[in-house]
Amino acid sequence: MVVRYMGTKRHMADHVRDTIGDLTHAGRVVDLFSGMGSVAESLQNTASVVTNDALSFTAALSRARFTALQRSAEAPSTLVRLRPAYDARLRELTQKYSTQLASEHRALTGTRLDLVEYMQRAAHVGNSAAHRRAARAAAVASTSEHYELASLYFSAGYLSLQQAIEVDSIRSAIDGDTQLNDRDWLLGAWITATSVLVNAPGHTAQFLRPNSASAHARIVRTWGRSVWDEFIIALDSVALVGTEKWRSNNSVFVGDALDLISTGQLRDVGTIYADPPYTKDQYSRYYHVYETLYRYDYPDSSGAGRNRSDRFTTGFSLKSAVVASFHDLCRNVARMRVPLVVSYPSSGLLTELDLTVADVASQYFNDVETLSFEANHSTMGGSTGTSKKTATENLYVCTI
Ligand SMILES: C[S@@+](CC[C@H](N)C(=O)[O-])C[C@H]1O[C@@H](n2cnc3c(N)ncnc32)[C@H](O)[C@@H]1O
Repeated sequence: MVVRYMGTKRHMADHVRDTIGDLTHAGRVVDLFSGMGSVAESLQNTASVVTNDALSFTAALSRARFTALQRSAEAPSTLVRLRPAYDARLRELTQKYSTQLASEHRALTGTRLDLVEYMQRAAHVGNSAAHRRAARAAAVASTSEHYELASLYFSAGYLSLQQAIEVDSIRSAIDGDTQLNDRDWLLGAWITATSVLVNAPGHTAQFLRPNSASAHARIVRTWGRSVWDEFIIALDSVALVGTEKWRSNNSVFVGDALDLISTGQLRDVGTIYADPPYTKDQYSRYYHVYETLYRYDYPDSSGAGRNRSDRFTTGFSLKSAVVASFHDLCRNVARMRVPLVVSYPSSGLLTELDLTVADVASQYFNDVETLSFEANHSTMGGSTGTSKKTATENLYVCTI
C-alpha cells in the first residue's frame, strides 16, 4: 500500500474484482470512492478504470500509478536531478531555524518531560501570530521562500522540525523540476515518504504525544529518521500499475462522487463500484495533513490537530444525511442503467438507522444480491477508539 488508509479494501479487493468480473456489462469500471486505489489496482490489465475521490492527494497517487504512461527516468537519476534544489532549500531553512533546531536537539536527547514540554510550547500557525504572518508572506513568495509550509504548520507535532524542513525542501525541488510528466509520481512519493514517518496512528487527525516511556522512545527514534531517505524508497513503491496500454485508457477524477454521477461526465461506463465511508469520521479531518501538504496552499489552521477549516464533508458520514446519500447514489446509477456494486460493513452508519444498503437499492434496482465476508477493519483508532475490529463486510450487487 502507498499510504496507510482507514477503510482500505485491500484485504478484499480480489473478491470485488471477481464480483465485478462476473457482471457481463462491457465498459469501464468506475471506483467512485477510490482512496488508495486497492480495487483499481486489482483490476489491472482487465477492465479500464475510472477512479474518483474527494481528497486531491489520493488523486495524485492514482494518477501516478494508474494513468501515468512512463517515468522520464529511473529513480536514481531522478534523485540526482532533484538533489541540488533540495540541498539549496535545506541549507536556507536550516540556517533560518538554527535556534529552534538546537532546542529540538536538546529535547530529543533529554528526558521524556523535556520532549513533552518542547512539543507543548512549539509555535505553529494555529497558535502563533508570528507564524501566521510568516505563512501569509510565504504563501505569496515567488522565490524559494515559498517553501516553508510543513515547518510552519506541522513541525514539533506530526513531524520533527528537522523532518518538516526536509519535507519543504523536497517540495521545493519537485516544484522546480522541469519534467512535468513526473510530477504526480514525485508528489505521490513525497506524501508516501511523509506518511511513513508521521507521528500519528495511521491517520492524521491528531499527532501522538510522548505520554509513556514507549511513546517517548518511539518518537525519538522516528524523529531521528530522514524524509529524504524515505523519499528514495517511496519513488520505487509508487510504481506504475499494469501495462501502458491499460493505463492509457484509465481516468482519474477528484470531487464529490454524487456530483460525478449526476452531471453526465462519465462515458463508456460498464459498472460502478462504490466504497463510501461507513462511520462518522470525515476522511478530510483524518487525512488533512496530506491534503494540506499536497495543496500547499497555506490555509487557516486551528485546534490541537492544526486542522484546516475548509474541509470537504460528505453526507455518507452524517447520521442525518446518510440515507439520502444512498438514495442519491442508487437513483443516479440506476438512471445510467449499469450495475452498482457497493461495499458496506454490517456495522456501518446506515445500520444504526436500522437500514441496509439492500433496503435502499431495491427501490431502484430489479435485483440486489448480498455477499458477506468476515473482515478485519482498520479503524486506526478513529471514532471507535480501537485499531482493528472484526466486522462483516458486505458486497451488494445491484442490477437492473
Ligand atoms: C472507505 S474509503 C475507500 C477506500 C478505498 N476503497 C481503498 O481501498 O483505499 C472512502 C473514501 O471515500 C472518500 N469520500 C468520502 N466521501 C466522498 C464523496 N462524497 N465523494 C467522493 N469521495 C468521497 C474518502 O476520501 C475516502 O477516500
